[in-house]
Amino acid sequence: MSLVLSGMEALGYGIASATERPPELTGGAKNTKIVILGAGLAGMTAAYELSKAGYQVQVLEARAFAGGRCQTARKGFKHTDLIGHEQTCDFDDGLYINVGPWRIPYHHRSTLHYTKAFGVPLESFVNDNDAAYVYFEKGAGPLAGKPVRKGEIAADIRGYTAELVAKAASAGALDAPLTGLDREKFIAYLVNEGRLSKDLAYKGTEGRGFSVNPGAGVNPGPGKELPPYAFKDVLDSGAWKVLSSVTGYEQQRTMLQPAGGMDQIAKAFEKRVGPMIRYGAVVQKIKQSPSGVTVAFKDADGKPGEVTADYCLCTIPLSVLKQIDLDASAPFKAAMSGVAYAPVNKIGLQMKTRFWEEKHHIYGGHIYTDLAGINSISLPSTGWQGEKGVLLGYYAFGGEAAKISAKTPAERAAFAVAAGQKVFPEYADNFEKAFSFSWHLAEYNLGGWAEWGETGRKDSYPILCEPDGRLYLAGEHLSYLGGWQAGAIESAWQQIGKIHARVSKA
Ligand code: ALA
Repeated sequence: MSLVLSGMEALGYGIASATERPPELTGGAKNTKIVILGAGLAGMTAAYELSKAGYQVQVLEARAFAGGRCQTARKGFKHTDLIGHEQTCDFDDGLYINVGPWRIPYHHRSTLHYTKAFGVPLESFVNDNDAAYVYFEKGAGPLAGKPVRKGEIAADIRGYTAELVAKAASAGALDAPLTGLDREKFIAYLVNEGRLSKDLAYKGTEGRGFSVNPGAGVNPGPGKELPPYAFKDVLDSGAWKVLSSVTGYEQQRTMLQPAGGMDQIAKAFEKRVGPMIRYGAVVQKIKQSPSGVTVAFKDADGKPGEVTADYCLCTIPLSVLKQIDLDASAPFKAAMSGVAYAPVNKIGLQMKTRFWEEKHHIYGGHIYTDLAGINSISLPSTGWQGEKGVLLGYYAFGGEAAKISAKTPAERAAFAVAAGQKVFPEYADNFEKAFSFSWHLAEYNLGGWAEWGETGRKDSYPILCEPDGRLYLAGEHLSYLGGWQAGAIESAWQQIGKIHARVSKA
């Protein structure tokens, strides 16, 4: 098989990965009607592809706007959470915070398929920055409770580790494990990795920064390098924990974001499928018969309505769908309870100057902290050197997020500002306005994303990936790309492929 494939690829007939482009829905839609529930990225992807293939598509969306979790808060954006806290975003023109998705990995080719197809301009998202601070106060030693630059921690721990291993290798202490390897080359690697001196010692590196920057003439001339921290202090601080943040698959040092806000993607879809969407339609009941599906909803005025179709593609999060009167088999319904949804908080803080750039020379990236309810503070990857900026004041999950979201918006902002003040002395003085968002308190979401445990993934997930009668589910929750737009898109691609195969066979 692989020989056949590589032969085909050599001829230019490669088989496209299911994650790169939508399925080709060829052969006719046979007047088939599809009702899609939810105008998030999964729903709009399905609406776009199915309607292009000739299907009659109607989308029901509970909110007054499309995008699902792909939302950007900017001036005029309103949100009322389930506690009843009303907020209207009042950021200055041009400033925004992505309250939902905010970064795109280079390998999410499905998301990038549409940004390219729809001409949504992208810019770099700085997902890692050596100049950014780590602020860990729960560690021990002199670095605890002190903002230290990530690059300093990285250089020191790499340097000291390389020194230890290089000295051990050089003394022959590693000869047994090194059997078959070239000891000299290994030591050369360690010298390079840790920037060690000839005597295999780590004495710091210019890469971690200067107390006096090098410059012209004899003064400042070569400048003055910052000395390394002591190995013990680095270990005690715990700050080294953040060094693996971009070594996984999902996170890279440089990622992508749409210029002007993530909702540019939602808007690009909406431009194409908007006429198929009925806004303000809150689903009350999903009923199936052997020949079709009927969805009962309440419109924005509370008036009942109904849509009947041959098939239903439901993208409503399971946290919400569980509470809807649904005509599905008992195992299917039981499977819907096999997953938890993540409490997730974000807050945008408008600052009157970009002190992190001007005073601290940090252009984008994250300040990792061990502050409960904060987790990280992120600096905008756009608007460089502008007058003002909106930074992400916290991005927290789980129980801590739930605690903070119980506060009023003003209290949440005060909490975020007090925490940021520990890292940046300019924080409180620069703070102007806030906009906070909690996904577990967002009606029609009830959580940031699906969090499958091992049992749920094994027992429930496969059931929900298959149709129940004429009902198909789609969304990030039905993917292994949970909490990513690519998960929503690729799940929609998979399910419309299945619907089309069934229609084609019928
Ligand atoms: N995909 C989400 C993020 O990028 C979880 O933060």
